[in-house]
Amino acid sequence: MDFSNFTNQSPAHNEFRSDTFTTPTLSMIQSLAKATLGDSVYNEDKTTIELEEKVAKMTGKPAGLFCVSGTLSNQIAMRVNLMQPPYSILCDYRSHVYIDEAAGMATLCQAMPQPIIPKNGIYLTLEDDILPNFIPDDGEIHVAPTKLICLENTNHGMIFPIEEIKKISEFCKKNDVRLHLDGARLWNAHVATGIPLAEYCQYFDSVSLCLSKTLGAPIGTVLVADKKFIQKANHFKKQNGGGIRQSGILTSMAITAIDENLPKLKQTHERAKELGKFCEDNGIILEHPVETNMVFVDLNANKIDPEKFVEIAKKHDVNIYYGRIVFHYQISEESFQKSKKVVLEAIQYAREHPFEGGSIHKY
Ligand SMILES: Cc1ncc(COP(=O)(O)O)c(C=O)c1O
Repeated sequence: MDFSNFTNQSPAHNEFRSDTFTTPTLSMIQSLAKATLGDSVYNEDKTTIELEEKVAKMTGKPAGLFCVSGTLSNQIAMRVNLMQPPYSILCDYRSHVYIDEAAGMATLCQAMPQPIIPKNGIYLTLEDDILPNFIPDDGEIHVAPTKLICLENTNHGMIFPIEEIKKISEFCKKNDVRLHLDGARLWNAHVATGIPLAEYCQYFDSVSLCLSKTLGAPIGTVLVADKKFIQKANHFKKQNGGGIRQSGILTSMAITAIDENLPKLKQTHERAKELGKFCEDNGIILEHPVETNMVFVDLNANKIDPEKFVEIAKKHDVNIYYGRIVFHYQISEESFQKSKKVVLEAIQYAREHPFEGGSIHKY
């Protein structure tokens, strides 16, 4: 059998558009040979149960549920956290659950989104952002009370400080508000801060942790919460067509991804920070600090034409999504060095041909 697709340099070696582009490794494919073949809709697949229990244990939660995607995991978690509309979900205006889940918050959860721009530009705080926008369930019949707050850690690669999470969590408990974490990249926050996953997760009713992004598994997300919550989440998962039969072939690769790739995140962060510093040393303004694996070049402030940026990247044989440069463990040293040439050439071009057209923003 020819395994060269898995042993050669990954096609993701020059992919800076997202850490979702990572490709399965030979050891992930080899793990398939040991995958169990039970039907996980009947909860009979041992490898899937092993993954769910492994992530639940790592996060200090009683139970886990393997889902095909972060979107499915977030959406069913929001629904389980909510009861009877009308209600609102408060979140950061940049959060994935608000802008990137095809309005599932409104259509599937029947919730009014309350997207908030954090005053500090980085993360929501209780004092400045949540208290002024919180809608209490106090009998006022014109409003949709805030019943769920969704945080994202990391958000745009930035770490949500644990002291603030604690404050928000205490507020939620006192005010009958649920707290969900989109922890698609909580792995990155954990590696960058050294704070155990379980310490972060204790403050949330539910946490969604992706396996197919920074950790490099081809498919999957685990939702963790208490047992009753996970039972209901499994009900919604099935309703959404998310029941998977022989999911052992997916979860065996995910277990390998956690075991082999979690330790590689440190180097990924170092490279992203090196590029961030390189930008700053060359007068290139960033949208915000580089704390984990993402560098956001502020195209507006640097007067860089977004299309030109992508074009320059392509010329150097790397892929970049406008101002966003995402690192993952399969980026090659050569592509890493090329990313520096790209930002340098882009800023030189912008200084000679400042772009006044306004840049592309997803939000
Ligand atoms: C922060 C965050 N949450 C959730 C998701 C959704 O994951 P999926 O693409 O598996 O649905 C993504 C996807 O990139 C993400 O970046």
